Amino acid sequence: VIVYLVNPNNPTSTIADCGFMIKWIKSQPKNTFFVLDEAYGEFVNDPSFKSGVELVKQGFDNLVVLKTFSKIFAMAGMRLGYAIGAVSVINKIRDHVAYEVMMNQSTLAAAMAEMNDKEFLAESKESNDKAREILYKALDELKIPYLPSQTNFVFINLKAPLKPFFEHMKDENIMVGRPFPPALQWCRISLGTPAEMTYFVEKLKEFRKKGWI
Ligand SMILES: Cc1ncc(COP(=O)(O)O)c(C=O)c1O
Repeated sequence: VIVYLVNPNNPTSTIADCGFMIKWIKSQPKNTFFVLDEAYGEFVNDPSFKSGVELVKQGFDNLVVLKTFSKIFAMAGMRLGYAIGAVSVINKIRDHVAYEVMMNQSTLAAAMAEMNDKEFLAESKESNDKAREILYKALDELKIPYLPSQTNFVFINLKAPLKPFFEHMKDENIMVGRPFPPALQWCRISLGTPAEMTYFVEKLKEFRKKGWI
């Protein structure tokens, strides 16, 4: 049995109850393998968040943690990620991946540089936190419900079909998230720079005046 958990989750942006999750993983039979996708882990503010890496460090070999350079590192186009797991797990994955031929040197050089660039990481996180606050403030003012975000996007409840909102935003050169069935009245808003979010909330407020939201 393979269990795939995305934590923090996409598109909800929320984190699991990590204490519960870790206890559950530990309680499962050895033939249950967990894949923990922590693509958004670097954005988390909630102190209750626990990375699956802790379990790897404790010696558990029935899980692997997936990380990516596509999110806080902003390298999505360069296509690089990595897995953290027990040696036996990583060796098993190696048997199935032609990793030697799938990486290019510029991507590796960029990743190595970014990985150690604490300043860039802190700057990115701070910018994302600021952008989120700008969006939260407007959503609160407009009384638009949303889920507590631990990522670089916020899932908002339009209480109306997504399509017209999507089209109106597109007319303003803003691309909001695609539909995520069954949550068809919800919209995932990716966080841009604080300046971009200021523009976005201006449009939201205009839409409210026009009766569109
Ligand atoms: C949870 C999650 N994992 C992974 C990815 C993509 O990662 P990568 O660009 O490394 O394939 C995404 C991107 O949308 C994601 O939401």
